[in-house]
Parts: sequence; C-alpha cells; structure tokens
Amino acid sequence: MGTPSTPRIVVRDMAREDIRAVRRIESAAYQDAWPARVFESELENGFAQYRVAVERTAEDLPSGVIPSMRRLVSRGRRERIVGFMGVWYMVDQLHLVTIAVDPGRQGQGTGRRLLLDCFDLAREAELNEVVLEVRQSNARARALYEHFGFREAGVLKDYYKDNHEDAVVMLSGPLDAAALRTRLASLRGALDDDAPGVFEV
Ligand SMILES: CC(C)(COP(=O)(O)OP(=O)(O)OC[C@H]1O[C@@H](n2cnc3c(N)ncnc32)[C@H](O)[C@@H]1OP(=O)(O)O)[C@@H](O)C(=O)NCCC(=O)NCCS
Repeated sequence: MGTPSTPRIVVRDMAREDIRAVRRIESAAYQDAWPARVFESELENGFAQYRVAVERTAEDLPSGVIPSMRRLVSRGRRERIVGFMGVWYMVDQLHLVTIAVDPGRQGQGTGRRLLLDCFDLAREAELNEVVLEVRQSNARARALYEHFGFREAGVLKDYYKDNHEDAVVMLSGPLDAAALRTRLASLRGALDDDAPGVFEV
C-alpha cells in the first residue's frame, strides 16, 4: 500500500458541484456572502470564469505500477477546496470580481497562487490589464495586491451597501510591461521556493 503524499494545490475551473464548498469559504471569509443562485448564474455566464484552488492528496504509489492502475488510484484521490476566485472578461480588461481563501488556510500562498492564475487568464485572453475593487479597510488584501504591482486608480464612494464603505479601484497596469512580467516571474519563483512541487496549475 502507498502512503499519503504531500498535499498539492491545483487551480482548476469551478463546477456546480463545488458551489457548496465555495459558499462555505465565502461565508467564513466575507461579511456579505452571495446566495447560491448567484454562483449558479455566474457559472452560466459566458463572460465570467470561476476558478478553485484545490488541495489534493494522492497515494504515493510504489514504482513500477502500471499506468492504468495509476489512473484508477488517482481517481480516488482526496480533494479539498481551499480558495476560489471569479473574473469577468471585459473589452480589454480582466475584472477580478471575487477572491477568497479558507480562513484556516490563509497566509500560506493560496491567494498569491490564485492571483497568478488570474494574470495567466488575462494573458491567455490577450487582455491589457487586470482591474479590481477592494474595501478601503481591507489592508491585508490591499497589501497582497500591492505585492502584485497593483496601483490605486480611484475611489468609488459608498460602494458597499452593507456598511456604506468606499471601494478602492486598483489597476495592474499593462500586462506586457517588462516590470510586471519580472515581478510575476519572481512571485511565481518565490512560491515554488516556499513549497517546491506543491503548487501546480
Ligand atoms: C485576501 C486573501 C484572498 C489572501 O489570501 P491568502 O491565501 O491569505 O494570501 P497569501 O498567503 O498568498 O498572501 C497573503 C499574505 O502574504 C503577504 N504577501 C503576499 N505576497 C507577498 C510577498 N511577495 N512578499 C511578502 N509578503 C507577501 C500579504 O501581505 C499577506 O500577508 P499576511 O499573511 O502577513 O497578512 C484572504 O486573506 C481572504 O480570503 N480574505 C477574505 C476575503 C477578501 O478580503 N478577499 C479580497 C476581496 S477584494
């Protein structure tokens, strides 16, 4: 028998079956969680894409196991959703609409991994930049975005209806800028150094 291997974080598309787990994380991470029907309609929205960060633990197989056997075992691997994000495809921007990580798993690089995936989606779609809004008081998320080179572009007054808080609009700047490309490569490298072989997309 094999032994459980180190969990890997994989980022993949969100499916309807993931909504329950995603809502659990959202309710724990956000003060204004969406109802399930919003996720259901977002998954049908052709201009939106939702991604989940999944922790997978597979059995380590003894060497020499035949490939068909490996496939059978990998079907039985354990999966746990630890974060998610949603984006909207705009004319020339990718709009990061939501991002959250299970509070018990925050501060371990999953948010960074999701943001890197967001930039990958923007680049694959040949968009010019990434845009997002963040609560003025959300210092942790703002610090994370600043690490990624986002800059404040303006303030939307009274944007959040639950507490009348302002939103800060942040822009990544052009995706083809050399400085941003270097920054993303170094963030990706740092994640790999922290957890070699643990993250993959
Ligand atoms: C914001 C959020 C998604 C970040 O997820 P996360 O998995 O904790 O993110 P990471 O571990 O990748 O990075 C966050 C931490 O690393 C820091 N960090 C990120 N990149 C860094 C870098 N290159 N160098 C140093 N520090 C870095 C951040 O400042 C933050 O620091 P802290 O742990 O001391 O607070 C998560 O906190 C969350 O779900 N918050 C609630 C929902 C929310 O506010 N979403 C954003 C709405 S706009």
